[in-house]
Amino acid sequence: MARRPIIAGNWKMNNTIADGVKLVKELAPLVKDNKTVDIVVCPTATALAGVGEAIKGTNIALGAQNVHWEKSGAYTGEISTDMLKEVGATYCVLGHSERRDYFGETDEGVNKRARAAFAAGITPIICCGESLQIREAGNYINHVVSQVNAALDGFTAAEVAKLVIAYEPIWAIGTGKTATFEQAEEVCKAIREAVEKKFDKNAAEAIRIQYGGSVKPATIKDLMAQPNVDGALVGGAALNAKDFSEIVNF
Ligand code: 13P
Repeated sequence: MARRPIIAGNWKMNNTIADGVKLVKELAPLVKDNKTVDIVVCPTATALAGVGEAIKGTNIALGAQNVHWEKSGAYTGEISTDMLKEVGATYCVLGHSERRDYFGETDEGVNKRARAAFAAGITPIICCGESLQIREAGNYINHVVSQVNAALDGFTAAEVAKLVIAYEPIWAIGTGKTATFEQAEEVCKAIREAVEKKFDKNAAEAIRIQYGGSVKPATIKDLMAQPNVDGALVGGAALNAKDFSEIVNF
């Protein structure tokens, strides 16, 4: 079964509203003829509404960078699913290694966020990935599979089929050190096998798995040629309309 590629730009803590609107206005004409890839931009919380307006009527979808599991209440600094839906976000990056490493996000929290997002009709892009230390110790597959298993707890197989996982080795993020295509494929394949084991073959065949970590126009084609890589989660190169459009139009 052919999976539709999904390429998302994670802007992280970059771009004011004005910067973000300018970026998507440049991006939209460069990707407008692309009918084969799901294209997503994930601005900061303050720029979601403005960027959401600016991409109305285009083939670019809006994603957030986090969401809370409660509907509302005393959760200072958090954002609810209703708030994301109000601005038109249909995707949400969850469990990014920067959230896990700098802000103490746990596997359990990522699972709660993912379930709340999905239940609200927002597709989670669930991130996983190992540190250099874990990579060098050799137990990276176990580490990543355990993150994925924890994030997918409580979902049904039919639901899992609609999710997106992003494999982002931490040592490849923002370092210019892309994983080799073989390294990306090895882990994305292991994730798909883990999904089959925990759920079923249909879920494993349908779930989309992105690679992230220093993806550039020069590396996207070979990454996308890997059988288990269905897209990319792009950081730095997504801040430039031309670069991101070249990645999307690989
Ligand atoms: P870079 O593309 O800047 O390495 O970032 C990857 C990333 O973390 C996307 O979520």
